[in-house]
Amino acid sequence: MWKNIDIAVEKTTKLKDKPEADKLGFGRHFTDHMFLMDWNRELGWHQARICPYQPFHMDPAATVLHYGQAIFEGLKAYRGDNGQIYLFRPEDNLERMNRGAVRMSMPRFSVDLVLKGLKALVYLDRDWIPAVNGASLYLRPTMIGVDPYLGLKPADTYTFYIIMSPVGSYYSGGFSPTKIYVCRDYVRAVKGGVGEVKTAGNYAASLLAYDMANKAGYTQVLWLDACERKYVEEVGTSNIFFVLDDTVVTPPLGGSILGGITRDSVINLAQNWGMTVQERPITIDEVLAASRDGRLKEAFATGTAAVISPVGELFCDETSYPINGGAAGPLAERLFAELQAIQYGRGEDPFNWRMRV
Ligand code: COI
Repeated sequence: MWKNIDIAVEKTTKLKDKPEADKLGFGRHFTDHMFLMDWNRELGWHQARICPYQPFHMDPAATVLHYGQAIFEGLKAYRGDNGQIYLFRPEDNLERMNRGAVRMSMPRFSVDLVLKGLKALVYLDRDWIPAVNGASLYLRPTMIGVDPYLGLKPADTYTFYIIMSPVGSYYSGGFSPTKIYVCRDYVRAVKGGVGEVKTAGNYAASLLAYDMANKAGYTQVLWLDACERKYVEEVGTSNIFFVLDDTVVTPPLGGSILGGITRDSVINLAQNWGMTVQERPITIDEVLAASRDGRLKEAFATGTAAVISPVGELFCDETSYPINGGAAGPLAERLFAELQAIQYGRGEDPFNWRMRV
C-alpha cells in the first residue's frame, strides 16, 4: 500500500551541550536532530529525512494555526542497565496516531516507515538517552496541516515530524502522590467529538480548568463526562484507575477518553496477576462514597509522560477526600516497578512490549 521511501540523513555540524541527567524536568531540552517528512495530494508522503533540530518556516495562514489540524503522540526510549536501548510498544502509538489522522481528516502514514525513521533518529541521538534511573528520552511524533489557506477544509499539505526530549519525572514530586481537582464547571470532551484523539485542541480546552486547579494547589484536573457530569473520564495528562476493595476499576473507552497505551498495559498486567479489572462507567459519587466508607483503597493515573502517578487526594465540591492516607498504594508501586523493569530491560517481557533499537 505504501511506496518505499528512503530516509535521507543530514547530521548537524554542531552538537548541543547536554543538560545534567538529574535535573531534566519534562520537555525543556531537545536533542540534536529531528525527523521530518511532507505530504501533498500529488506525491503522498515524500522527502523523509533526518536533519538538525531547527525551527520551522511556516506561513502565518497555515491550517494548524487557525483550525488546529494537529495530532501528536508521546512515547519513550529507555537506556537499559546493559546499555541496550529500548522502545515500549511504539507500533501501538503509531497505529493510534493513524486512527487519529482519520478522525481529523489528515493523511495516514506507513507505521513501518515512521518506525524506521524513529529508530534511526533515536540511534543517531542515543547519547541523549539519560542513564539515570527513571529518566528517559521522550519522543513526540507530530503531524500538522500547513496549507496557507483560510477557508475551512482539510489541508492539502502536511508535515510530519518527530522531536525528542530527555526527561525525568513529569511531576516535580516524582512518584509522590498527586492531588487531583474534580472539575464540575468545564468539560473536556464529548462522545462523537475528538476526545479519543490525541489532538492539540483537547489539551488547549483543558488549560483553563488546569490553571484554576493548579493555582488552588492541585496537580491536575479529573474530568467528568460532558452530558451528565457525573461519570469519571480521565485526568488532564493521563487515564485514571481506582482500587475498590480488591477490584481495579477504570472508565471504559467510549469515544471521549484517550485509549492510553499505559492504561492498556496496566489492565493486562493486573489481569495477569490474577486481579479483577473492570472497565465500566463509574460515577464520581461512587468514588467519593467509597472514599467515605473505606472501600477506596487507592487511585492512580497512567500515561506515557506520567507513567504511574499515585493520587493521594481528590478534591470535589469544596471537600477533600484523602486516599490511602495520602500515600502511594501497593498496586501503584507494584505496577510502577513492573513497568520500569520491562521498559529498562531489567525483567521478563511477557507481552512482548519491548523493542530493541
Ligand atoms: C503523554 O503522556 O505522552 C502525553 O502526551 C501527555 C502530555 C499532556 C504530556
